[in-house]
Amino acid sequence: MKRSKINAVIKDMEKLIKEHGFEIPPFCNWTPEEWKSKSHEYDEIRDNMLGWDITDYGLGRFDEVGFALITIRNGNVKDDRYTKPYAEKLLMVNEGQMAPMHFHWNKMEDIINRGGGNILITVYNSTEDGGFADTDVTVHSDGRTYTVPAGTRVRLIPGESITIQPYLYHDFHVEEGTGDVLLGEVSMCNDDENDNRFYEPIGRFPSIEEDEPAYRLLCNEYPAAKE
Ligand SMILES: [Fe+2]
Repeated sequence: MKRSKINAVIKDMEKLIKEHGFEIPPFCNWTPEEWKSKSHEYDEIRDNMLGWDITDYGLGRFDEVGFALITIRNGNVKDDRYTKPYAEKLLMVNEGQMAPMHFHWNKMEDIINRGGGNILITVYNSTEDGGFADTDVTVHSDGRTYTVPAGTRVRLIPGESITIQPYLYHDFHVEEGTGDVLLGEVSMCNDDENDNRFYEPIGRFPSIEEDEPAYRLLCNEYPAAKE
C-alpha cells in the first residue's frame, strides 16, 4: 500500500468520526515528529499497539478487502503489567470493502454499528476441523436471541450490534448503496497474533511504499521511548 493512500484513509476516517460526533484519544492525533519526544510514560500505547491500524490483509486490494481501525484500548495477554481484560476499537468500513471470514478461539466481541451505512455480518458455526457447519446459528443482538440458517447475512443498521461468540465464523460487508460505516468493537482482550482463525490463510499488515511522509504512525511503527 502506498503511504499516500494510508494518509488519505486516515484523513477520511477522521472526517467520518467527526461527522458522527465521536472523539478519539490524544495519541491518535500525534504526528510522527511528536512521537519522537514521548517517554516511557506512554509504553502502554506501544506495548499494546493502540492507535491507527490500516489493514489490507497483505492482499494489496484495500478498496475491496480491508479497513481502517483504531484500537482505543486493549490489554495484553503476553504481558502481565497490563491486566485489562477488555478492548475497544473503532473501524471504518467503506462501501465496497469487506473483512474476510474468521473466528476467534478465545475472544468474545460485540460488533456495533456506530453510524453511517448498514453492515452485513455473515455468520456460520464452525466445524471441528475449521469448516463451515451446516447448522442454524443462534444470534445475540441487542438483547434479542434468535436463530438463523447457516450463512445468513445479519444486517445491522446504525445503533444495532451483534455478539460474536468464540468459534462463530463472521465476516462483514457494507450493504451496497448505504454509505461508509463507522463500526465499533467492544470485546475481551484482543490478541490478533494468535486468536484469529481465518477461513482462508491471510496476511496482516500491508507492505508500505513510502511515496510521501506519514501523516500518522501506524500502531506497529512507533519509535522507542525517549529516555
Ligand atoms: Fe472478529
